[in-house]
Amino acid sequence: MRVCVIGTGYVGLVTGVCLAHIGHQVICVDNNQAKVELMRSGKSPIYEPSLPEIMQLAMQAGNLEFSTNINSAIANSQILFIAVGTPALPTGESDTSYVQAVARAIGLGINGEYKVIVNKSTVPIGSGDWVRQIINSEIEQRKLDTIPQFDVISNPEFLREGSAIYDTFNPDRIVLGGSSEKAIFLMQELYRPIIERKVSGINYIKDLSLPDVPVVVTDLNSAETIKYAANSFLATKISFINEVANICDRVGADITQVAQGIGLDSRIGNKFLQAGIGWGGSCFPKDVSALIHTATDYGYDAKLLKATVKVNVNQRLLVIEKLQQVLKILKGKTIGLLGLTFKPNTDDLRDAPAINLIQELNRLGAKVKAYDPLIQSSQHHPILSTIKLENTPESLANGCDALVLVTDWQEFKYWNYVQLAKLMNTPVIIDGRNYLDANTMAAAGFYYIGIGRPTRGNSLVAKRLQQGNSTSLTTQVA
Ligand SMILES: NC(=O)c1ccc[n+]([C@@H]2O[C@H](COP(=O)([O-])OP(=O)(O)OC[C@H]3O[C@@H](n4cnc5c(N)ncnc54)[C@H](O)[C@@H]3O)[C@@H](O)[C@H]2O)c1
Repeated sequence: MRVCVIGTGYVGLVTGVCLAHIGHQVICVDNNQAKVELMRSGKSPIYEPSLPEIMQLAMQAGNLEFSTNINSAIANSQILFIAVGTPALPTGESDTSYVQAVARAIGLGINGEYKVIVNKSTVPIGSGDWVRQIINSEIEQRKLDTIPQFDVISNPEFLREGSAIYDTFNPDRIVLGGSSEKAIFLMQELYRPIIERKVSGINYIKDLSLPDVPVVVTDLNSAETIKYAANSFLATKISFINEVANICDRVGADITQVAQGIGLDSRIGNKFLQAGIGWGGSCFPKDVSALIHTATDYGYDAKLLKATVKVNVNQRLLVIEKLQQVLKILKGKTIGLLGLTFKPNTDDLRDAPAINLIQELNRLGAKVKAYDPLIQSSQHHPILSTIKLENTPESLANGCDALVLVTDWQEFKYWNYVQLAKLMNTPVIIDGRNYLDANTMAAAGFYYIGIGRPTRGNSLVAKRLQQGNSTSLTTQVA
């Protein structure tokens, strides 16, 4: 099929590349000229495992093009994906202005050939009809002899940054919302190789003996609600385990053991039960806020979702509390952050807990250093110009009063912590993801503080910390 994907971010580019890989003729459109030029040269503007390789294969096969010319892309395609951003406005509702601009462009560029317009962006409930109206009103103004025919389908995206290609080829389900049987049929044809698990040439299929991917066909509003409900449920699950972790901290239980014990109950499941410094990223915060906002618009007070957000706001700053408990005064102290991105295997810093943490540490007068495998320049976010970005574990640890593990990047498991402890002013580590082994860290000379699990540590460090005197510990611990 001839497909056009408008917006080449984490969702649009991955969707376009994967559809091209399974044999469709795809044109990816973006209004960012520099991005388009980069992609034309075979490079990906975002970090996503396997994306550059599969992108180059699709380009070599002649299935994938990049363009800034939205009009000709619309005219030449049967299926048009809207995959632009829908960031949160300060009020919590979604900014739909990018979707609106694209819907207008579709209304202006659509021609006589029947087209399916696919809302892939996460859009407020009711947006499918709204997009249809915008397109129709642009068509009316063109006073055409033949009215172009089209249908709008909602096809929410569930991929995870960091495993986006895998998730696209191995989805848990495909949701298609709309009332046109023709459009739903065409969408099923589009996804057929994925639905039937027949993607070949790459090793992304987990188990070919699995049954077909379930396709959930719904009305437009239900499909749009599924996306918000899914993300809100996952965020609530994390806030729940974080709340239990905070209780564990008080009663002396270990949240990792508690999570294992409850996660084996098949009604609960073991995913999304890792306590830590809270959820973030470009989706959960804005999607939960948007659902709360929609509920309010319709006269319903979404109390549980509001509590989910509230727990998360507190959780992000819990690390500051823990730092104050051990170091007392933070002014003038040096804190080293392990990781900045909201999760590993992505370069996305949107609404990452690290940003809040840096803001608060700056406010309290601490000096902040950070190491992240993918964030090596302050161009990624304005706040990074207020901290020192380090490029080795040693330069990060050197002279620090405490380390904070913010992102569970795999390499952090393999650092030489015995050596790093010796380089620090006080070898304290707050493990914001409960990612490191507490006993190993204590054996390496660290005073280890997790989230909702007992503190472990070198008794000498503990004693000196209790005395509020953290100077010249290095020699004594060594
Ligand atoms: N990032 C995720 O993990 C994820 C997962 C599921 C759903 N979503 C949803 O998918 C949508 C896209 O998210 P994203 O993270 O890919 O966004 P993004 O910000 O990474 O990318 C959006 C792209 O759209 C382009 N764009 C904006 N206006 C345009 C226009 N008028 N014409 C052409 N291009 C235009 C931008 O230049 C940018 O490249 C959002 O609604 C998001 O909520 C995201």
